Amino acid sequence: MSHTTYDFGMIGLGVMGRNFLLNVADHGFSAAGLDLDAEKAQALEEEAAGRPIMGTTSTAEFVKALARPRRIMLLVPAGKVVDIVIESLLPHLEDGDLIVDGGNSHFPDTERRGKYLKEKGLYFVGAGVSGGAEGARKGPSIMPGGDKAAYEIIRPVLEAVSAKVGEAEEPCVAHMGRGAAGHYVKMVHNGIEYGMMQLIAEAYDLLKQVGGLDNPTMHQVFDQWNKGALRSFLIDITTEILAQKDDLTDGWLVDAILDKAKQKGTGKWTSQNAMDIGIPVPTIDAAVTMRGISSLKAERVAADAILNPQLASAAAVDQAEWIEQMGKALHFAFLVTYSQGMALLTDASKEHDYALDMEAIARIWRGGCIIRADLLEQIRQAYSTAPDLKNLMVSPSFSEDLLATQGAMRTVLKAGIDAGVPMLAFSSTLQYFDAYRSGRLPLNVVQAQRDFFGSHTYERIDRDGVFHTEW
Ligand code: 6PG
Repeated sequence: MSHTTYDFGMIGLGVMGRNFLLNVADHGFSAAGLDLDAEKAQALEEEAAGRPIMGTTSTAEFVKALARPRRIMLLVPAGKVVDIVIESLLPHLEDGDLIVDGGNSHFPDTERRGKYLKEKGLYFVGAGVSGGAEGARKGPSIMPGGDKAAYEIIRPVLEAVSAKVGEAEEPCVAHMGRGAAGHYVKMVHNGIEYGMMQLIAEAYDLLKQVGGLDNPTMHQVFDQWNKGALRSFLIDITTEILAQKDDLTDGWLVDAILDKAKQKGTGKWTSQNAMDIGIPVPTIDAAVTMRGISSLKAERVAADAILNPQLASAAAVDQAEWIEQMGKALHFAFLVTYSQGMALLTDASKEHDYALDMEAIARIWRGGCIIRADLLEQIRQAYSTAPDLKNLMVSPSFSEDLLATQGAMRTVLKAGIDAGVPMLAFSSTLQYFDAYRSGRLPLNVVQAQRDFFGSHTYERIDRDGVFHTEW
């Protein structure tokens, strides 16, 4: 379909880009797509089916077709490709045009690109987009950051295409903050995603190895969990995963999948930046570490033959009781994982000068994104009451739920340890809780050691000043 001035342009017509663009067109905007791969541009035109959409492989044609100020979104692989695409656009763009990077770019790259494009008189928005291919088509959660004026240019499109929540149909998009705020928030979203995925995997293992549950029973357990406090996208898809029969054998598909999980980097970046700014996120660290351990498959198989501790077989558990304890423990672990991620965002907002609105983040994560869960409304309310909350765990509703479920967490961990089940995320989660709620930690000994061997000095609990001892 020909048009002289299209409202919106998309570069990168992989399944995410095409789906996002079709979503844009469904909401009354005309849209142009660019991909150097002619097959993808062609696929878009075929899928367009009467909608005001054009696909092209020519950058010049693409840019010329767009109404000014041009609104161009990139959904291309994070990294060098983003810079290459930006460079290829520059000769064609004019003052006031806007580029939106919708990929999982690393936030320092977004910071750099924003400054670079500003010098050239262009607007730039780094926007995290969550929800996978289906979200892109039906309504993702979108986390845009950068100049507010730049966001305003794209706001009508993003509000139209985003997921909607509640009777008021609140859009799952909001301006996250200055600079690279959008990609930072998306990075932490993915860190939380890693944590929750690993916790669910460990819960599955505990149900199976300690509780002796088979796949159909676990499917029912997850289905029940998804009707209560754990209701979330990730529990929902795990419910389906556990019911999936294998096409190639007569078993269950989940049992045929190799136990090596890959990663593209966002979880690792979360842990790295958390370390840099000194905010602990041990559940996320554990999840990243477990992806690493999972990839050492051959070593693990070899070690299995050497390091078998010959544990006494675990005492039989009451299945119904075990399922209940597991559900409570997973609830506890979800609460703590969100708390870690949100605490990181709170601190990063000051550290990176993003001016994040914590309530808005929780609000737009209630729909469309991978970590959407009923818990997000509880989180939104906590920040609505106390916008400066340092850690969700001490908010009244969280502390009440944590205290009600921490006993189950201890029960589960004790049984899991006796059975030798690896639970890095579960145990890190409880340890974080126990450390955070400890008014006094044994780090006085660490500080004494530092002073002993390095004269690094120490402070005292009973008087001001800096002290050193000739030990
Ligand atoms: C989302 C997902 C999405 C993607 C991850 C997967 O929010 O829609 O997080 O961004 O699926 O990048 O990350 P890993 O490949 O690192 O697991």
